Amino acid sequence: MNMAQSSHRWWDREVGYEVYIRSFVDGNGDGIGDFPGLTEKLDYLAWLGVGIVWITPFYPSPMCDFGYDVADYTGVDPLFGTLDDFDACIAEAHRLGLRMLIDLVPNHSSDQHPWFQASRADPDSPMRGYYHWRDPALGGGPPNNWISHFGGPAWTYDEATEQYYLHLFLPEQPDLNWSNPKLVREFDDVLAFWLDRDVDGFRVDVAHGLVKNMLMPDNPQRFPITPDMSPRQAFGCYDHRYDLDQAGTTAIYRRWRAVAERYDALLLGEVYLRDNNPNQVSRYVANQDGLHRAFYFAPMHTPWDPVAMWSTFRDALDAAPRDLSWAISSHDDPRAPTRLGGGELGQSRSLAYCVLLFALPGLPFLYQGDELGLEDVDVPLDRCLDPVAIRNQNPADGRDACRTPMPWSPGPAGGFTDGAETWLPVDRADAHTVSAQQDDPGSVLYKYQELLAVRHELGDLHAGELEWMTDRAAAVIGFRRGDCVCALNVAEVATDFQLPSGKWRLAFSSQRPAGAVAEAAISLDAPEGVLLVRVPDTA
Ligand code: NOJ
Ligand code: CA
Repeated sequence: MNMAQSSHRWWDREVGYEVYIRSFVDGNGDGIGDFPGLTEKLDYLAWLGVGIVWITPFYPSPMCDFGYDVADYTGVDPLFGTLDDFDACIAEAHRLGLRMLIDLVPNHSSDQHPWFQASRADPDSPMRGYYHWRDPALGGGPPNNWISHFGGPAWTYDEATEQYYLHLFLPEQPDLNWSNPKLVREFDDVLAFWLDRDVDGFRVDVAHGLVKNMLMPDNPQRFPITPDMSPRQAFGCYDHRYDLDQAGTTAIYRRWRAVAERYDALLLGEVYLRDNNPNQVSRYVANQDGLHRAFYFAPMHTPWDPVAMWSTFRDALDAAPRDLSWAISSHDDPRAPTRLGGGELGQSRSLAYCVLLFALPGLPFLYQGDELGLEDVDVPLDRCLDPVAIRNQNPADGRDACRTPMPWSPGPAGGFTDGAETWLPVDRADAHTVSAQQDDPGSVLYKYQELLAVRHELGDLHAGELEWMTDRAAAVIGFRRGDCVCALNVAEVATDFQLPSGKWRLAFSSQRPAGAVAEAAISLDAPEGVLLVRVPDTA
């Protein structure tokens, strides 16, 4: 059977889980997570009920951006183990029924990659064209006004060859030139290398950025940049008309899709366009011949407000009715319970929000620790390691707060390591650890486990057409998919939600035990997310 034509794919009913490998489990006591540690804890992920694990970069790297600066696309950094450890991890995952995605970083390499070393050493090297080298502007200075996501110009001058090279992230992360067919072919080999090692697909880093407008015009500036702005805010002051989301990018994914289909592998893109325009994102997953799924990041930034939330989801699903991936947290943004108010309020809103995301068409992801209700950790500046925090001497500009090690059990190192040190502080209350929550049937962890199990069981959550039951004026966001109904109360007070005719069984609630049967209406706590399923007439 041609897999591209088949309507059911292995990821259709699954929930994914992001493993930030440095912070998941340390197997050798050096205070940094690794493959032996991850392999040991895969049974926890199977127990939780996720079906797909995305592992952040583990390749040889100088770690200037903690692995998103790759010096060898087909190896494992000794910090994380060996290729044998990698193979053992994939084999154990498959034995447990888990699928494994790895993080492909095609927009840029490390400046220590042999391609860049050759490119920099000699302007006549065939590798020179693997990157973007340009002469200074007339009169001197960088070739155009593009800036880096991480602050400062997107160009660094190379004294020896008297040209600038482009980097949309750190100077240690030179951008690769995807208009060069030789570079395109190099990545065919990278994909094949990992697919032959049995990975189940790729999360594609900066999937919207690979191709640049080769005339390299200035980007129009929309707002003035002020000194108090974070690098992200400064980046958002430009209309990224020429450096991001260029025509030609989707052609790369068509090429990869053909390869992926041969292996029945999943291509999931990070399409992080700051304006969160769903019509831009949907182009990457349109026509069934590009990426299979693309993360849509608006839900991670939308305020807890019914109008904002309803419009976000309505617009996203209009643009891409079933191909988006949803998440409430990641290793790049504040954890949802922190963003949504902190403490118990933040935790209950996050779980309620997950009910909605898990009921929408698409592929939802949890970020490690979401299932424990974890908030960000206050990492003091002298423990911050994210280059963005250090550059600006401001922890709030960095991403360390959401990247601290997983707390597995009580104790100073949280059961994350047997060693004395951890790369970032653990700093969690005992009640936030996996073991404490596994011992407590009323814990947040059991609620997530229950939600995952219920989602798996409810067939219409995977097949039913989505029909909105509420509009932008309502405090409850509700929709129906076949014989399932999902509702999320975003109001500050308990609110009634009208049900379609018939009897409806509460299959899951973020606030109370399941099982009650309702008719006509149900009163929802603030906040509360519920899944209801129709009770057949004869029952
Ligand atoms: C997105 C990744 O998620 C982030 O952590 C990284 O810094 C940038 N891409 C650059 O690779
Ligand atoms: Ca380690």
